[in-house]
Amino acid sequence: MAAPGSEWWRTAVIYQIYPRSFADASGDGIGDLPGITSRLDDLKSLGIDAIWLSPFMTSPQKDAGYDVADYRDVDPLFGTLADFDVMLNEAHARGIRVIVDLVPNHSSDQHVWFQEALKAAPGSPERARYVFRDGRGENGELPPNNWESVFGGGMWERVTEPDGTPGQWYLHIFDATQPDFDWTNEEVREEFRSILRFWLDRGVDGFRVDVAHGMMKEAGLPDYAPVADADSMGGGEENVPYWGQDEVHDIYRDWNRVLAEYDGDRALCGEAWLPTLKKTALWVRPDEMHQTFNFPYLMTPWDAQELRLVIRESLDAFGAVGAPSTWVLSNHDVIRHASRLALTADSPQGDGIGPNSQGKPDPAIGLSRGRAATTVMLSLPGSAYVYQGEELGLPEAMEIPDEFRQDPTWFRTNGERYGRDGCRVPLPWTAEGPAFGFNDTGASWLPQPAEWAHFARDTEERQPDSTLNLYKKLLSERAARRLGSGSLVWDDVADSAVAFRRGELHVVANLGAEPIELGDDVTFVVQSEPFTGTALPPNTAAWFTRG
Ligand code: NOJ
Repeated sequence: MAAPGSEWWRTAVIYQIYPRSFADASGDGIGDLPGITSRLDDLKSLGIDAIWLSPFMTSPQKDAGYDVADYRDVDPLFGTLADFDVMLNEAHARGIRVIVDLVPNHSSDQHVWFQEALKAAPGSPERARYVFRDGRGENGELPPNNWESVFGGGMWERVTEPDGTPGQWYLHIFDATQPDFDWTNEEVREEFRSILRFWLDRGVDGFRVDVAHGMMKEAGLPDYAPVADADSMGGGEENVPYWGQDEVHDIYRDWNRVLAEYDGDRALCGEAWLPTLKKTALWVRPDEMHQTFNFPYLMTPWDAQELRLVIRESLDAFGAVGAPSTWVLSNHDVIRHASRLALTADSPQGDGIGPNSQGKPDPAIGLSRGRAATTVMLSLPGSAYVYQGEELGLPEAMEIPDEFRQDPTWFRTNGERYGRDGCRVPLPWTAEGPAFGFNDTGASWLPQPAEWAHFARDTEERQPDSTLNLYKKLLSERAARRLGSGSLVWDDVADSAVAFRRGELHVVANLGAEPIELGDDVTFVVQSEPFTGTALPPNTAAWFTRG
């Protein structure tokens, strides 16, 4: 174990792999574990410290694997447990740690427990593992309350009882194929302790905990209607009866103790969409989770004042509980930041952007802002998350034809919300060749835009000023200068700037419309875009020293 305060996860850059879209060794159009193993050297050369894998466990894939039917096995789409062990060992051999996704809020409806619950009677121990309730109305024909699913439609599904009569209802925050567990039930808690140990015994370095803010529901399940444009994963509002209940903390403390049984500083990172950073920081008190995603940072628009504020608040809030702040700009649930930061119309989280959306971004402005935003992010103290493909500057895929869409959001809203497919398109590895090198058959579960040849990894390797080479430079300088630890000192450069110092290193980003003169004594370490002279252009950031 490292000395308290110097654990690896405090400063790590963690690369999110979305397995179905990373690299496809089998050639079936869906990425897999052997594909990941084959690309570990590329990740090593990028300079990241750890990888987090979105779910690859047995699943009918109704929500791209976030609907788990067997928590202790690998879905054949992705390979086998033996493939997982090889991948883990090969990652460790390269000094890369591995975090896996844990999905404890809900299972798949194909999970053996849910199948048993359907066959059992109301009030039985089998039903008590999930949230079954009688309906309202004369014959129980109305759902138990008015909650609305994150993916659209109601949050309850009615079952047919074994005798063929219309029966009870079960709760599902997400798709109807994702029934919520009842976390007041000790049997559920014991099962998840055992699942944690299963993966810890195999050697994983930690878990990203899906929907960590949703596991406990307010007692009595009171009616609640969200405001119209609430962010879909939560976080927009205070006091939501299914988000951020205080009782979740007991579960995290319990898991913290399970991880402490193992050596090597294993880590829990919570996916918690919460209204304030102060509340988010409660998730990472010393005996709870180790990290939580900083979604307020991710949601911050391209505005200097707002960006300064969220950085300040993050460092204050997490610092107050002795936890590192984390930083994240993209993941598999949000519009890629090389597009999002230049949207010209509101696009609530989870709605996505597609052929008929308003406010599409200018691609060049989006890419510049994306690169500048990352240049700021990777200079900040704490741990940073990078989502596969952002190191290539990939934009959101905005023209996916309807017939290819797979996000349950698209189906549950009858196409009203595009959902998240646009950030999940398989990666381009080579400019030439089938599926841009994603595999050697050309199959791809979502179509790749033709212009992605320009973003292919092999092309970007050869271009000194590519986004890939920017990320490599940022990551190697970050490591050499130990920017993950320590504090920052704010500089007052311009209203439209975010400016601070990390020791001798100055960081300035220009979020305004006019160039910002930096002075003639600067020596640049990194420029987010190449420019000459000492005036920082709009939508650009730089690291430099003075004198
Ligand atoms: C959050 C995950 O990131 C998202 O992709 C998934 O749909 C929901 N949780 C449900 O598991």
